[in-house]
Amino acid sequence: MLVHQAVLLCLPLIASAAVAGRWAPPDPLEVVELAAPDASVKANFIARGATLTNFWVKDKNGNFRDIILGFDNHTNYVTDDLGHPYFGPIVGRYANRIKNGTFSVPVSANITASTPNVYHTPENENNGTDTLHGGTDGFDRRTWTIANKSESSVTFSLLDPDGMQGFPGNVYTEVVYTLEPNSTWKISIHAAADQETPIMLSGHHYWNLEAYEETQDLSGHYAQFNASRIIAGNAQLIPDGTLLNVSGTPADFRQAKSLGEAINATVAGEYCGAGCVGFDNCWVYDNNTGTTPIFSLWSVNSGIRMDVITDQPALQVYTCDGIYNASLPIPRKEAQGGNSTFYENHSCLVIEQESWIDAINYPDFGIDQIYGPGRDYHWQSSYIFSTL
Ligand SMILES: *[C@@H]1O[C@H](CO)[C@@H](O)[C@H](O)[C@H]1NC(C)=O
Ligand SMILES: *[C@@H]1O[C@H](CO)[C@@H](O)[C@H](O)[C@H]1NC(C)=O
Ligand SMILES: *[C@@H]1O[C@H](CO)[C@@H](O)[C@H](O)[C@H]1NC(C)=O
Ligand SMILES: *[C@@H]1O[C@H](CO)[C@@H](O)[C@H](O)[C@H]1NC(C)=O
Ligand SMILES: *[C@@H]1O[C@H](CO)[C@@H](O)[C@H](O)[C@H]1NC(C)=O
Ligand SMILES: *[C@@H]1O[C@H](CO)[C@@H](O)[C@H](O)[C@H]1NC(C)=O
Ligand SMILES: *[C@@H]1O[C@H](CO)[C@@H](O)[C@H](O)[C@H]1NC(C)=O
Ligand SMILES: *[C@@H]1O[C@H](CO)[C@@H](O)[C@H](O)[C@H]1NC(C)=O
Ligand SMILES: *[C@@H]1O[C@H](CO)[C@@H](O)[C@H](O)[C@H]1NC(C)=O
Ligand SMILES: *[C@@H]1O[C@H](CO)[C@@H](O)[C@H](O)[C@H]1NC(C)=O
Ligand SMILES: *[C@@H]1O[C@H](CO)[C@@H](O)[C@H](O)[C@H]1NC(C)=O
Ligand SMILES: *[C@@H]1O[C@H](CO)[C@@H](O)[C@H](O)[C@H]1NC(C)=O
Repeated sequence: MLVHQAVLLCLPLIASAAVAGRWAPPDPLEVVELAAPDASVKANFIARGATLTNFWVKDKNGNFRDIILGFDNHTNYVTDDLGHPYFGPIVGRYANRIKNGTFSVPVSANITASTPNVYHTPENENNGTDTLHGGTDGFDRRTWTIANKSESSVTFSLLDPDGMQGFPGNVYTEVVYTLEPNSTWKISIHAAADQETPIMLSGHHYWNLEAYEETQDLSGHYAQFNASRIIAGNAQLIPDGTLLNVSGTPADFRQAKSLGEAINATVAGEYCGAGCVGFDNCWVYDNNTGTTPIFSLWSVNSGIRMDVITDQPALQVYTCDGIYNASLPIPRKEAQGGNSTFYENHSCLVIEQESWIDAINYPDFGIDQIYGPGRDYHWQSSYIFSTL
């Protein structure tokens, strides 16, 4: 706490020093290898984006599998030679979409030329019509500082200076990754700002609980989560301000079901934007207490099960439509089929525990995402693995 307060008091100084480049930047590709005290789970991270590059858990036969998508050649995380799918980082300062790259503080609906305190962020998605994951230089593209480390835990910190990507105020963020006994990965994020600013952070991990061993799709992946509503969006996934009742639709996961079948039950453009099959949507959890698992995913083939406890009110689920680009296919990791195979559409799942998408443009949602002096940002999730 004291360290944290000191950092905050010094924010403007630290920011100007960082901007002036007076401190040598840390190595973006330094690998941090962690293992749980009981060796039940292992994970590797790099400082670039505070990114998870590998995550090994045991399958039903007791064999470790790396169940996270990524690049074996870490240089690709920096060069974008194989595109920029946001493989494994923390996304921010404001995750997900911002309509028209525009918001105001205090927030308002339908911003016009006369709206006070309007800010603009880079419109890096959909031909320049909205901001995705904090802009062209989001938290995922920064090199974080390794602030603390043990055999089972690492703390990455990042100072996001005032005005960066158009956001007001300095934001100091710490993310703590801890591998706990019984195959548990805990992520805690704390951010503090010296001016009022929107903050929404999340982990952006692509999961395939089979490591592509038994199948190449999600037919054997099952999901269950209590969410009776999704935030309705337009063809660019920008909210229209309404909520959709999922009852009786392919988006209803209150009863466990196969993700592969659910994806096939959708039609192009129904949920995940123009031409897209499957999902890329923000579900609102029903009565999430933050004390018991609210989201579960498992593979009947590998026997690996993941249960998530989170303090977040919503969840973005993306079923990897569009990850395969025929003119620039992404080779799989050696442990997931190797570089003669590619990451295919609908073969993986991104789950982002977070707040309501673009609530900074929809005050009617009633979700306050403005943080600053007197109001720090907190995010905590635990991913608990077991076998069927
Ligand atoms: C990794 O990727 C970089 C950038 O494309 C390339 O220059 C380098 O040769 C690659 N390294 C290996 C070991 O393939
Ligand atoms: C969209 O943002 C641009 C600046 O990037 C601004 O000129 C325009 O008024 C905004 N449009 C709406 C509808 O908010
Ligand atoms: C914003 O625009 C929408 C659509 O035109 C309208 O329904 C809504 O009432 C407007 N909200 C405000 C606060 O002006
Ligand atoms: C971007 O614009 C091009 C050319 O107008 C169009 O073909 C493409 O569909 C647009 N993409 C998106 C995501 O809107
Ligand atoms: C650094 O990590 C160790 C071990 O996880 C922990 O006991 C200690 O409190 C941490 N120190 C700080 C300053 O966070
Ligand atoms: C691991 O889980 C088992 C079964 O749920 C429990 O009995 C045991 O106490 C747990 N061990 C630790 C270190 O949490
Ligand atoms: C989904 O549809 C594809 C394409 O038709 C098919 O290959 C696949 O087997 C289907 N998956 C499931 C789980 O039905
Ligand atoms: C959602 O739709 C179902 C089926 O039509 C209905 O029973 C339920 O009451 C609706 N829920 C809400 C919150 O409107
Ligand atoms: C949350 O729980 C309350 C009380 O148990 C209930 O009235 C409400 O319908 C629930 N909300 C949702 C979205 O399920
Ligand atoms: C999910 O909903 C079911 C049925 O209402 C309920 O039994 C279960 O406890 C809920 N789970 C959580 C984690 O809220
Ligand atoms: C696919 O990759 C090509 C070559 O890098 C790129 O020009 C194109 O924009 C990509 N298409 C999509 C939809 O991202
Ligand atoms: C592809 O993988 C093989 C190992 O199976 C390795 O020898 C080779 O360097 C890789 N090629 C590239 C372009 O990374």
